[in-house]
Amino acid sequence: MSAAEPFLVPRQYSTPVNGTSLLPLLLLSLARQRQSPITTKSVKKEYDYVIIGAGSAGSVVANRLTEIPCVNVLLIEAGSPPPVLTDVPVFARESWYTPYDWFYRTAPQAHTGNGLVGRQLVYPRGKMLGGSSTMNHMVYVRGNRHNYDNWAALGAKGWSYDEVLPFFKKLEDNRDSDIVADGYHSVGGPITAMRPTYTTETKPSMIQSAANLGYPSLDSNGPRQTGLYDHQATVRNNQRCSTAKGYLVPAENRTNLDILPNAMVTKILLENKRATGVQFDYKGASYVVQARNEVIVSAGSLNTPQLLMLSGIGPSEELNKFNIPVIADLPVGKNLQDHGGPNLDFVVNIPIQTSGEKQKNSSVVKQYIYKRSGELAAADGEIVQLFLPSTYVPPGEDNPDYQSHFSETTTDIAKKYFGLTPEVYNQVYKPYEGKPLISCYTTSIQPKSRGTVTIQSVNPYDAPIVDPNYFDDPQDLDVVVQAMLTCLRVGTTPPLGNIVTRIQTLFPGCEQYAGNDPEYFRCQAQSVITTIFHPVGTAKMGDPSDPTTVLDPELRVKGIDGLRVVDGSVMPTITSGNTNAPIIMIGEKASDIIKQSIVCTSSPNNTANNDIANNVLFYA
Ligand SMILES: Cc1cc2nc3c(=O)[nH]c(=O)nc-3n(C[C@H](O)[C@H](O)[C@H](O)COP(=O)(O)OP(=O)(O)OC[C@H]3O[C@@H](n4cnc5c(N)ncnc54)[C@H](O)[C@@H]3O)c2cc1C
Ligand SMILES: *[C@@H]1O[C@H](CO)[C@@H](O)[C@H](O)[C@H]1NC(C)=O
Ligand SMILES: *[C@@H]1O[C@H](CO)[C@@H](O)[C@H](O)[C@H]1NC(C)=O
Repeated sequence: MSAAEPFLVPRQYSTPVNGTSLLPLLLLSLARQRQSPITTKSVKKEYDYVIIGAGSAGSVVANRLTEIPCVNVLLIEAGSPPPVLTDVPVFARESWYTPYDWFYRTAPQAHTGNGLVGRQLVYPRGKMLGGSSTMNHMVYVRGNRHNYDNWAALGAKGWSYDEVLPFFKKLEDNRDSDIVADGYHSVGGPITAMRPTYTTETKPSMIQSAANLGYPSLDSNGPRQTGLYDHQATVRNNQRCSTAKGYLVPAENRTNLDILPNAMVTKILLENKRATGVQFDYKGASYVVQARNEVIVSAGSLNTPQLLMLSGIGPSEELNKFNIPVIADLPVGKNLQDHGGPNLDFVVNIPIQTSGEKQKNSSVVKQYIYKRSGELAAADGEIVQLFLPSTYVPPGEDNPDYQSHFSETTTDIAKKYFGLTPEVYNQVYKPYEGKPLISCYTTSIQPKSRGTVTIQSVNPYDAPIVDPNYFDDPQDLDVVVQAMLTCLRVGTTPPLGNIVTRIQTLFPGCEQYAGNDPEYFRCQAQSVITTIFHPVGTAKMGDPSDPTTVLDPELRVKGIDGLRVVDGSVMPTITSGNTNAPIIMIGEKASDIIKQSIVCTSSPNNTANNDIANNVLFYA
């Protein structure tokens, strides 16, 4: 049996509690929160705004625009409503390879991937209401103040840290009073954040070892980022708080918002350099819906560039390959940035259950049902984050360039989700099957490498070609090697060093190096890296006169009227950490920008209630 086999096989959504007697109780307890909104019964022929993609950003825009009663909006989503069990944080990976996942892989990598099947990384994306916010690991990180000041300096007027902070506050409902007290937070917003109420047996030692090494515990979303972040997660009472829950459910009964799942947009319609609507497939038929004011593309950093290119907006040399008429020659799909990196694993020497055993243990499941605590509250086993500077960062600057995620794991995760060659799995991980492991996952959070998203055909159902081009710039590899050395220091410093031991097995092809040698770590990182799925930058915003931008600072596609992009694609440079909160912020700020252009008049064309029969396109 090949280690890589499971990831080649699509499967139905299922979790360790499926088929157990605890399932009905668990579902009943989850029902206290609604995961997903009521969806539409009929679709009109035209709307003021048509939004493509109900993910982290699209859901925000749909909610905020329909706060204005004179505006009506259609939100079109390719995926379906999410399964209820996506609410349980520990089941975060269960939607991979299911119909709720786009099921992508990267292009073969040039600078890493010796130990991966086809040199390709597994690359899931959420395909459901809430998008990737319904699939992600819920780690709540805003990034660094310098990220946004840098955006503004690069020409993204209005996006400096001081200008985006109010929108970070607006999206937030922070439930930890010690964190709210630092002045950078707020309560009552749509997305709830709190520390998961789960403490792994190793966590106190981890925090103490980091402190012993001089890495203080702090709120990395507050005044300073550098140090140990005992992180908050985007959960509400330890149930996932996706944007479907936070933004779509509260807006579900507005008569000026129609939410249409299971509908795949295949093209943006353009007439005389103006977006007039979209073409989409629904239940086997193809439809056209008109947009009176704007089409807003929120399909995420991989599908947004694909859809723009299929519609004639992109680099002419790419479009010419497929005979797509060029409507706007713009650098769509360039500037791809992501956070990829290696893991350094430790085996836990105190007698504890593995994370897999805990998920199957009925007393652990009951602890979640009745107390909302225990292992099920830990998103994919995440424990703490370290944000630290490599030697490339000027001393004293609060601008960390690597992040280390500590998490509880097992060899099962490596086997099912990393895309390893059987050789790597058998040599490195197999000897540790059934053992509780701690993983230190490291990534360069300000990578210098740039990749691309391109298309392989004119068929919208073919996956885009995603090449993150990890380690193209050698500095990124240097940074992760320094980060791995930090993992090793934390894992060997008491008290953590007393209860964990680094796994002894070395990666195939790297055995000539001593295991603690930087050259060894370099070799390992060139063999296997995984990603934490933060592709951004493929429709860069900034100064319109800059030839590398696709969008102006108000996120309008250059040279096209009535067309905006609002999602992770717009970032000029990647933020220093996990990208969900920054992308929700982008949705909030974009909504604010768009609302400033809305003028309500009493003209019949501009009312939400023109629900007359001949305006109906179809009944869903
Ligand atoms: C496995 C995983 C773990 C992650 N962990 C974290 C984490 O712990 N913390 C964190 O901050 N971030 C995390 N992220 C990243 C974060 O979730 C994403 O950056 C963010 O959700 C992306 O938002 P978006 O709006 O750009 O795109 P998405 O949320 O992906 O939304 C795009 C939506 O558009 C839809 N769509 C695409 N094409 C079409 C089409 N043609 N027609 C109709 N609809 C379409 C998609 O189905 C999707 O719903 C993770 C991501 C993944 C995948
Ligand atoms: C929307 O209406 C339904 C049916 O009346 C109701 O059950 C639901 O709670 C409403 N949603 C909100 C957010 O008010
Ligand atoms: C289940 O978990 C409980 C509480 O953590 C523990 O005491 C018990 O030994 C576990 N049972 C099994 C079968 O592992």
